[in-house]
Amino acid sequence: MTTGYERSVSAPEHEPRPETVWHLQMPQIRCGRDAVEELAFQLADLGIDASDDPHGLVVTDETLVEIGHVDRVTAHLEDAGYDVTVWDGAEREPSIENVDGCIEFVRENEGEAGYDFYVGFGGGSCIDVAKATRAVIANGGQVLDYIAEPTGNGEALTDSGPPLVLLPTTAGTGAEISPVAILSVEEKEIKEGISSNHVRADAALLDPTFTTTLPPDVTGKTAMDALGHAIEGYTTHPFDGLLRASDPESRPVYAGRTELTEMFSEKAIELLSSNVRTAVHNGDDLEAREAMLRGALFGAIAGLTAGASLCHAMAYPVGNRYHTYHGETIAVLTPASTLGYNAASDPERFAEVAEMLGADTDGVGTRAAADLARSEYVRLQQDLNVIPSGLAELADVDEEDVDWLANQTVETQQRLLRCNPRPVTTEDATDIFRDALHNWE
Ligand SMILES: [Fe+2]
Repeated sequence: MTTGYERSVSAPEHEPRPETVWHLQMPQIRCGRDAVEELAFQLADLGIDASDDPHGLVVTDETLVEIGHVDRVTAHLEDAGYDVTVWDGAEREPSIENVDGCIEFVRENEGEAGYDFYVGFGGGSCIDVAKATRAVIANGGQVLDYIAEPTGNGEALTDSGPPLVLLPTTAGTGAEISPVAILSVEEKEIKEGISSNHVRADAALLDPTFTTTLPPDVTGKTAMDALGHAIEGYTTHPFDGLLRASDPESRPVYAGRTELTEMFSEKAIELLSSNVRTAVHNGDDLEAREAMLRGALFGAIAGLTAGASLCHAMAYPVGNRYHTYHGETIAVLTPASTLGYNAASDPERFAEVAEMLGADTDGVGTRAAADLARSEYVRLQQDLNVIPSGLAELADVDEEDVDWLANQTVETQQRLLRCNPRPVTTEDATDIFRDALHNWE
């Protein structure tokens, strides 16, 4: 005779269960004005002793060399006894070929083993080239070996390599703490990422004195990316509403929101929305710049752990086809996607976002308060005066392009859509893209 007890113990062990565990992994973080003066200390703390004559590589771009910022970094390292070489070939929205160029430079100068340490200095592009270069040098082969199939060979990274320290010069992408390097595949007009905790840096130094030279348009656009991470992170699925990972190794990098990510989202939305006007219109204001850098960091800790969602999913096909900046693409898509379509999924939560953005929700019903998040966000963009009014102005996107963009989003971006708080069909995506053509007249 079979008892109920026996039946229960023979239940299959792989039966899907809700997730119960969350995980936070971060580089060491130093943040504040003149943090660059602690770079040598940081390297020593990571085991790179200047008396051993280590060779290091600074990965950056030509503009940062021209305006003298790179000299500040190398002078500090050389004064502390570190030997450093500068590679300034990083390009905007870097391609695989761009990273291959850096890897070739490393192998020509230092052989297969590469440098003893790496410093990535610049916007998200410089930082992603530095992350991908160290990863490939440490694991051997070429970039394509570690890009997912069918574009690449889909091999797993097994080694993090020597220390990598990242110094961002924009307040936006969060690349300095993220486990991903995003690269464009030119012949296919797509972007692919190398995504692994082995890609993540050992330390991030955030120094606002490098950000005061950013022009107003780059300041505004990168800020909208940071705000997108914070809001998408705050409104994505809770981690325990997703399926449990079969083992810790296979837990996705974007794993849903937790109490911890919510705290970071709230502070990030507040810091970014209350300081971005000053940072754009009065770039020398170091206090506003510092607040933006902290806001972007907190937004990244939240959004790049909990997971970006629909808006980022829609942004990749747009960026691939029209070669638009990531930040401005996020900016024009956020009203219709995150703050439009998604608001119906949880009006109370979006009403909270409206308040964090500075909207007055007193005496307003929950659903109407949720809609205030969108209008407050659009008002902020209009005040900045550097953000296009929609996809039509951004890249001449018209009604005929909308179907293709919607198809691409649903077909290629399930990694991001799986956490979206509201399911998205191709028809839904078509409507959202159409809505994003004009955010204001
Ligand atoms: Fe982003």
